[in-house]
Amino acid sequence: MKVVSTAVDIQALSLTYRRKGLRVGLVPTMGWFHEGHLALMKEARKRVDKVIVSLFVNPLQFGPNEDLDSYPHDLDRDCVLAEGVGVDLLYAPDTKLMYPNGFSTNVHVRGLTSGLCGGDRPGHFDGVTTVVSKLFNQTLPHVAVFGEKDFQQLAVIRRLVQDLDFPIEIIGHPIVREKNGLAMSSRNSYLKADEMAAALSLSQGIKQAQKLARNKQEVSVQEIRDAVAHEILKHRECGIDYIEVVDKTSLQPCSVVNSQSILLLAVKINSRIRLLDNSQIIGS
Ligand code: PAF
Repeated sequence: MKVVSTAVDIQALSLTYRRKGLRVGLVPTMGWFHEGHLALMKEARKRVDKVIVSLFVNPLQFGPNEDLDSYPHDLDRDCVLAEGVGVDLLYAPDTKLMYPNGFSTNVHVRGLTSGLCGGDRPGHFDGVTTVVSKLFNQTLPHVAVFGEKDFQQLAVIRRLVQDLDFPIEIIGHPIVREKNGLAMSSRNSYLKADEMAAALSLSQGIKQAQKLARNKQEVSVQEIRDAVAHEILKHRECGIDYIEVVDKTSLQPCSVVNSQSILLLAVKINSRIRLLDNSQIIGS
């Protein structure tokens, strides 16, 4: 596996592959790889000839009081893991090269970004869509793979690609979970042992919602939200940012729960660690 740190180099390599008729795939990441990331890389490996993984902790998508400075980072460890699943190129640009003095462009997707995580983290999605646009132009992939754990992010990126005519196929990969049900995330590394039960309440809340939907002929959005909140608020460490049942594509609140609905959760553990989870409730 080759490690590349400049946009000029990664673009030249990708163009060389493309001229040879090879298909290129990108897995954008912020590093500190876990099985969830590795699953995205394996998915890309199955679909393309050359897999590029970008590793960049993007300052634009962090708010002023968020965890940019403490975000876990170990390039050597990540290189070993990526190489182990057959990644061809790891692209790890420097912040000053990504955003040199004078950088003034912002990519904004309207609508889909206004609620949910966009409401709790103003500017977050502009940071994501700006960096992802740059990464697409730098790595020139045919295919890009994103995790469904960040469900809103995936919907926003699909919109971005459609609106700005990026000739890229976007693949969503299902959430990868620990055996205990916890959705894998780099931020799980912040959890202390005594915070684990609280962290597990997200996936347990989802299970309760699914059980409710199985056992009742018709279940309302409010019943689902109440059941999930009840499970989460058993733990005093938990603060709910949102529990919403929305349409999978538009992300607009659902009035009835059906197979187009998705339950989205964001919960803070001890006001420090923001965890996300989601699932279909019916037809999952
Ligand atoms: O999902 C992430 O890790 C990040 O938001 C992404 C897509 C790599 C952009 O920085």
